[in-house]
Amino acid sequence: MRPRTLTAAIGTGALALGLGMAGAQDTGPRQATIDPLVAAATATHVASLANDNVIPPVETTAGGTAWLFLDAASHTLSWTVEYAGLTGPATAASFHGPAGAAANAPAVLGLGVQNPIQGSAQLTAEQAAQLDAGQWYISLSTGNNPEGEIRGQVLPVEADAAAAPADDAALMATLMADGQAVYSANCRVCHGGNGEGGNGPELAGYSLLANAQTVISQTINGGGYMPPFGYLDNHSIAAAATYIRNAWGNAFGIVTEAEVAALR
Ligand code: HEC
Repeated sequence: MRPRTLTAAIGTGALALGLGMAGAQDTGPRQATIDPLVAAATATHVASLANDNVIPPVETTAGGTAWLFLDAASHTLSWTVEYAGLTGPATAASFHGPAGAAANAPAVLGLGVQNPIQGSAQLTAEQAAQLDAGQWYISLSTGNNPEGEIRGQVLPVEADAAAAPADDAALMATLMADGQAVYSANCRVCHGGNGEGGNGPELAGYSLLANAQTVISQTINGGGYMPPFGYLDNHSIAAAATYIRNAWGNAFGIVTEAEVAALR
């Protein structure tokens, strides 16, 4: 599971970031105001960094978020990365690729380590295409975990997510990407690759999905001929619920891990 929660609010000119870390020393969300080179409002790509994305996963409650802006014409990439909770000082941070979330790849570009990390670089057309295809990830290392303590796949921000002003676009993009994977592995067989239904009801255009609690409860407990998926962690269920509520023309908003935890 991902032992952290993330909320980010989009402001004008500055970004208010609350990164709440789980654990004994947790004193609640930490508020930092950064003057971002890349504002969440203009981010073309985002990444959510966590220990369980590292292959193999490592033990830490650290987490981080990256907002990136790729200029489509010049292929100039700029980035802001915020992190917290590492087991020691960050020793290296790099983009790696090309690789999807399930594979490792060599470092292609260094980021610097000072928190928040900000910088920019000129990519080749091939590198820009890899980034757009979700084939780059960010890895942050420490002395304890030289091969990476937290990692996050860089994913394009979907136009749909940006169109939902009430929701945090970065969180939405992460949940949609993770949710699509959870859906494909667990739900697609009955509800169809495009939510068209089959052994379960059609989910595309299904107004009942507006009720987040129904979606969460059905996923945790099953019902009718649907098996329970309560063994999935809160993040996976929140991601699957967010995905079915916002894919295929649906637009019912984010489901958070906290909402899932509350219905356990
Ligand atoms: C084995 C087939 C099957 C799988 C796998 C499956 N479902 Fe279902 N699902 C069903 C059936 C059948 C129903 C209708 C249940 C009923 O009659 O109450 C349903 C209903 C639902 C509903 C609507 C509940 C309602 O009250 O109408 C949601 C939301 C849902 N499923 C989500 C999911 C999610 C998310 C997953 C994957 C994590 C999933 N389903 C996996 C068969 C399946």
